[in-house]
Amino acid sequence: MPTGHIMMATSLDGFVARPDHTLDWLDKQPSEGEDHGFDAFQDSVDVIVMGSGSFRTVLGFGEWPYAKPVVVLSRSMTQNDVPDSIRGKVEIMAHEPAELMANFTERGFERVYVDGGAVIQSFMKAKLIADMKITIVPILIGAGIRIFDNADCDTDLEMVSSEQFPSGLVDLVYKVKAA
Ligand SMILES: NC(=O)c1ccc[n+]([C@@H]2O[C@H](COP(=O)([O-])OP(=O)(O)OC[C@H]3O[C@@H](n4cnc5c(N)ncnc54)[C@H](OP(=O)(O)O)[C@@H]3O)[C@@H](O)[C@H]2O)c1
Repeated sequence: MPTGHIMMATSLDGFVARPDHTLDWLDKQPSEGEDHGFDAFQDSVDVIVMGSGSFRTVLGFGEWPYAKPVVVLSRSMTQNDVPDSIRGKVEIMAHEPAELMANFTERGFERVYVDGGAVIQSFMKAKLIADMKITIVPILIGAGIRIFDNADCDTDLEMVSSEQFPSGLVDLVYKVKAA
């Protein structure tokens, strides 16, 4: 079975985006020149999975930031919602997480970058996340979309590393302990 891996930035109060999905609080951080390992992380995975919420945000960036194949999980979007400029790079699928991982096994994908809010939560619930790198941004935004929410059981984590940067951002790496 392929393994799921997370790399996300969150506010100190645990939000990955404002309620309206905006990321302005993240963009204004003075972290220019710091290497938080995004390129190395992307190089280490075979495929990227995100929900339609994150896909819509990324489309707003103008430039497609991913070099790896992307699967967008959605029950409301179709392949026709993928702009021509990224046709062939993005596949819309409506699978449940375990079903998707089984599909990836058949396609030879081993490491899966799991991105989003609700999608991360559904992969966590299905126990398909092996490890996570969380960058804590030194800001409280008060409300928004949580990275972890609605868990129906505890998830034990093992600390792998922590690194503080001059900007005040802190990278935390955890392995998910087997239940
Ligand atoms: N801070 C960061 O580092 C960071 C990184 C990435 C993203 N973000 C932001 O975080 C926010 C996440 O928002 P979100 O929670 O709405 O986004 P999401 O997880 O990207 O998308 C959720 C949507 O995906 C669809 N979906 C299909 N299958 C699903 C499944 N098995 N589990 C869950 N969802 C499934 C559903 O919509 P349908 O109606 O289409 O089925 C659902 O509403 C976005 O604004 C994104 O831009 C922040």
